[in-house]
Amino acid sequence: MQTRVVKVDPYEPRDDLLIACAQALRAGALVAFPTETVYGLGANALMPGAIAKVFEAKGRPQDNPLIVHVSRIESVAPLVREISATASRLMETFWPGPLTLLFPRSDLVPSIVTAGLPTVAVRMPDHPVAHRLIDLSGVPVAAPSANISGSPSPTTFEAAFSDLDGKVDFIVDGGPAGIGVESTVLDISGPIPVVLRPGGLSVEDLSQVLGEIRVVTQIPAGAPPSPGMKYKHYAPKAAVLLASGTPEDQRRAVVLQALKALISGKKVAVLASAENAPGYSRLAQSYPGSFFALELGSRSDLAPVAARLFSSLRYADQLGADLILAESFPEAGLGLAIQNRLHRASGGRKTPPAKDATLNLLMVCSGNTCRSPMAEAIMRKMWDASAIAARVWSRGTSAAPGLPASPEAVTVMSSQGLDLGGHRSALVTEADLVEADLVVTMTAAHKRALLDLFPVHRAKVRTLDEVSLGAAGGDVSDPIGRGQQDYERTAEVLARGLSVLARTLSGLLE
Ligand code: TXA
Ligand code: MG
Repeated sequence: MQTRVVKVDPYEPRDDLLIACAQALRAGALVAFPTETVYGLGANALMPGAIAKVFEAKGRPQDNPLIVHVSRIESVAPLVREISATASRLMETFWPGPLTLLFPRSDLVPSIVTAGLPTVAVRMPDHPVAHRLIDLSGVPVAAPSANISGSPSPTTFEAAFSDLDGKVDFIVDGGPAGIGVESTVLDISGPIPVVLRPGGLSVEDLSQVLGEIRVVTQIPAGAPPSPGMKYKHYAPKAAVLLASGTPEDQRRAVVLQALKALISGKKVAVLASAENAPGYSRLAQSYPGSFFALELGSRSDLAPVAARLFSSLRYADQLGADLILAESFPEAGLGLAIQNRLHRASGGRKTPPAKDATLNLLMVCSGNTCRSPMAEAIMRKMWDASAIAARVWSRGTSAAPGLPASPEAVTVMSSQGLDLGGHRSALVTEADLVEADLVVTMTAAHKRALLDLFPVHRAKVRTLDEVSLGAAGGDVSDPIGRGQQDYERTAEVLARGLSVLARTLSGLLE
């Protein structure tokens, strides 16, 4: 299908530009347009055939009902069986605006719109383009968010175009949508009003009019009160992890997860608060082209955060991020909707708190009796004072299992107060590579051996010389069979290289 783009002034859209869209909409065509929340994908709500095309274009599950949009309050009556006093009050107070109300539906509303439910969701958008388009069409307009089902809702023309080009008849380009998260969906059928989807109108604002309100946070077993709740939504292509805790806890958890992913060769985008964003500059400097901190806005001013949320999730995908780490925002005002969307984008997956997380460092040589056990002991001691826990262990590429460390290694280490008495050699396995965040080999040959054995883990394997930026002076040669002095020299080389590594890592994790 050829999609026509109609560009209008968002503040004063000209009727002569909108009229063709409005007529097509009335006649059953699909027209995407901006609202004050997100872009919507509109169709004539009274034509079941047009509604079926909406579900098809979005790839939307048939049991997820649509919101019907009107431009005048008097357009509600024919769609519903009853307008309660509460509903009237809410419409007078908050319409036009980001509030969707559920009503008992009249027979005029085709059941495909409500997915067979006895209620119909209605809202009056507060956007000159949406308002004028609906008004000119002369019909109620069913409009879900104008994205492919499951992905972040479009808050710009470009996002709507990228999802729907070729699938709809018209897209009206009216610039960025305003609020950036969808409308608040409210059920007022029971004694206590229930927010089924937190959105652009805050619960605090609603409470001013309604008093007590419940917000559905958990999806109850059985039939969810709003079908949209049960579907994966707002999810970009990248995996998303949500941080929690104090801002400082979040920053630390995000930095650690980012570093782990970066070491293993992944691209990482952080959705950051303005407060924490400067705390990511070190990672950005160290991993240019692989690490991106996308600043959403201040924790104390959430409107810009909401406005940037979906476009930042989409931008992270465009950057090719494998992992998105999102900070949490305070759950007041728009924050409830922001957190709801982030929670769903992440599928409920969280970053482990920094205090529970460990950095896993594996040291590798050949026999795992001299160099790598010494490296393990030295690194463990160097890391001791760090705020982030590390697990350090060692393995050999050709180790005979169960051997103690060589007597010379034991002696040299004990002169530094380090005990290798309990060490037993072990052969490196795939499980070691999976567990390790960083694998440090003593020589380039060890690295090659690991890459041959475990090519999928290639990104996290480095030589000590590489991770110490040359401080190890090339390969750390094998002291075995040589004198005590050689072991002492080996210990010095290891300490030089590992201290650079420890400094680099703790600098990045600071
Ligand atoms: O801000 C918005 O509401 C945007 C713009 C375009 O107006 N529209 C929007 O529509 O977000 P959509 O289809 O993406 O989300 C509608 C939500 C879904 O979660 C759906 O399950 C719920 O509203 N819904 C619709 N009708 C319902 C009903 N009768 N009962 C319960 N939930 C309903
Ligand atoms: Mg949607």
